[in-house]
Order: sequence, then C-alpha cells, then structure tokens
Amino acid sequence: MPLHSDSQRFIRYLAVKRDIDDRSLSQSVWRKLRRRLRQADRWRPLDVIEMGGGIGTMFARTLDWALTPHMQYTLIEANSDCLAECESRLKHLPYISMGPENRFHGQAPSGVAFALEMSCADIYAVIDDPNMFNRWDLVMAHAVMDLVNIPETLYGFQRLLRPGGLLYLTLNYDGLSCFLPQWETEFEEMLVSRYHHSMDHRVIEGRRSGSSRSGRQLIMHLLSAKLPLIAVGNSDWIVLPQQGGYTGGEAFFLEFIVQTIQRQLQQDSAVDQPKLARWAKRRMCQIAAGELIFMARNLDILCGSTSGRQTLDQGEDLGKDAGL
Ligand SMILES: C[S@@+](CC[C@H](N)C(=O)[O-])C[C@H]1O[C@@H](n2cnc3c(N)ncnc32)[C@H](O)[C@@H]1O
Repeated sequence: MPLHSDSQRFIRYLAVKRDIDDRSLSQSVWRKLRRRLRQADRWRPLDVIEMGGGIGTMFARTLDWALTPHMQYTLIEANSDCLAECESRLKHLPYISMGPENRFHGQAPSGVAFALEMSCADIYAVIDDPNMFNRWDLVMAHAVMDLVNIPETLYGFQRLLRPGGLLYLTLNYDGLSCFLPQWETEFEEMLVSRYHHSMDHRVIEGRRSGSSRSGRQLIMHLLSAKLPLIAVGNSDWIVLPQQGGYTGGEAFFLEFIVQTIQRQLQQDSAVDQPKLARWAKRRMCQIAAGELIFMARNLDILCGSTSGRQTLDQGEDLGKDAGL
C-alpha cells in the first residue's frame, strides 16, 4: 500500500518498530521494573503517565507483558495524527470500551485491568502544570529522550513522581549506528557523524532538543543528581535478513532509517550531495535485495524518585559538561 504523506509513513514506522523494539528492550530492566511495582504495597491502581506515546505501542506492550494488575494510564502525545491512529487501533480491540473524551477502559487477556486517557499535549506543558506534580507512580518515555531537552525533562519528570515513584526511560539512542555490508566506510562514518551533529544541535521552539548520546547523558545526569539508578541495560536494534529476506515490516523500517538520514543531510552543506544520493540508492537496493544489516546502540534506564535526595538542577547540562 503506497503511503502518501509523511505522517502516514511515520505512523507505519512506529507500527513496524513495535516488533523490533519488543525484541530489543532490555528484559532485565523490564523485570526489575515489574518486581519493584509488585513489591509496592498498593491498594489502588498504578498511576502511569507516558510521554510521547506515539500510536500507543508502549501502552499495548504494558498490557501484553502484564506490567501490573491494575493501572490508570495517561498517554501524552503532541502529534494528533498519532493519537487518531492510536484511537482507531484501540477501537478494534474486543476487550476495550470507549468512554467520553478519549477515555477507554477494559481488561486485557493478560489480566491487566486498565483505564486509558489520551491527551494531545506538549511534554513541556505537562511537566510545568502544577496539577500534574507529585501525582504519578510511574513516568515512562520510550524512544523520546533523544528528541527533547534532557536536563529540563528529567527535572520535570521527577516533579511529577510521587515519593517512591519510578522513571522508566527506554530505547535511548546512544551514539552508534552501523550499516553492513561495509561500503564506502569512511564516507558512511562521516554521514553518521553529521547526522549526530544535527541531533546535537537541534533547536525546537528556542530550546535545545535532542542528543545523539542520550543514553549516557541520562546516566550522567541521574548519577550527578544522586538519584537512585536502579537498572541500566542494552536495548540495541539489530535488524538483519534471515534466509534472504526480512520479517514483518523490517524492510520498511530500514527504508525509513535510510531516508531519514538522507533527508536530514540534504540540508547539510558539509555533505557531498551526489555522493549522499548514491549512498542512499545503494543502501535502498540492498534492502530490496534482502542484504542490508543495521545496528544501533540504545540504553534502557530505570530510576527512582528524588524523594528528599538532592534534586536535579533544572537547565544544567551535566552530560555536556562531562564532554559526552
Ligand atoms: C520516535 S517517536 C516514539 C513514539 C513512541 N514512544 C514509540 O516508540 O512508538 C517520538 C514521539 O514523541 C513525540 N514527541 C516529541 N516531542 C514531544 C513533545 N515535546 N511533546 C509531546 N510529544 C512529543 C513525537 O510526536 C513522537 O510521536
């Protein structure tokens, strides 16, 4: 099916990414999260907020993987097309009932009873809203921290947590992407490095937004703030053809990655444009032939709340100071 708009392509990317993320997520960090949640003596549903929830794949995962027996889940997403897709996917599930104003409830086959509320909102507005402070048992962000201002959002997320609450930050890109088989290695390394440069210098609405090494920067910020870092694990993406082809939407996923790099670097005067076009064509041909391998390093992080410890200093970019 041809996808006409960027928005449709992005939505399909998020949908096919689900399977890749499922196998990439650190199971040891996930198990620690579940264990912590189960240890807590809770007489009420778990209050969960997810930032940048896209089309709801992490929500679906928390149901399928039985995060907790009972939860009230709030999904924050700025892109209304993503939320519309999320809603239409949910409506097809037999165990979900729809209430007014983007609210859903039900009980998944895994046994998880839930209420879900979706909100088209900006993360920065949410973390600045006093009504949201001190209200959540779990704050999650999946494949989001490399798109936002890390010190500001970490400070804000901590403010949202109740004492004893948890921060689960997953699929934090950490500065390494590799395409195989090797081809024009030096040029390709330069492309990846220019792409990282664009992530590190991205400014959205006057705010530095993003980092090509978000995983290690998060660790440094959390440690410097003396926050309880409960677990860290790898969630690397590894996509490779098996028996001459890809499974599920992997080919589309790879095309999306190659095209994203190409489109970004088409705006970069330091990049040889005809050579970039040749690179993208070559990598797309390899995808069509079932030959391209792609690996990227990501980290998952589970952290406790400040609750009386030294608080994060808003705006101080510790990762940057540490030369990361
Ligand atoms: C890479 S996507 C990941 C989506 C989803 N977590 C997943 O993995 O399928 C990042 C998402 O964060 C959202 N996002 C980025 N910055 C945001 C902001 N400031 N406020 C709300 N959502 C934001 C984007 O619209 C996008 O849907």
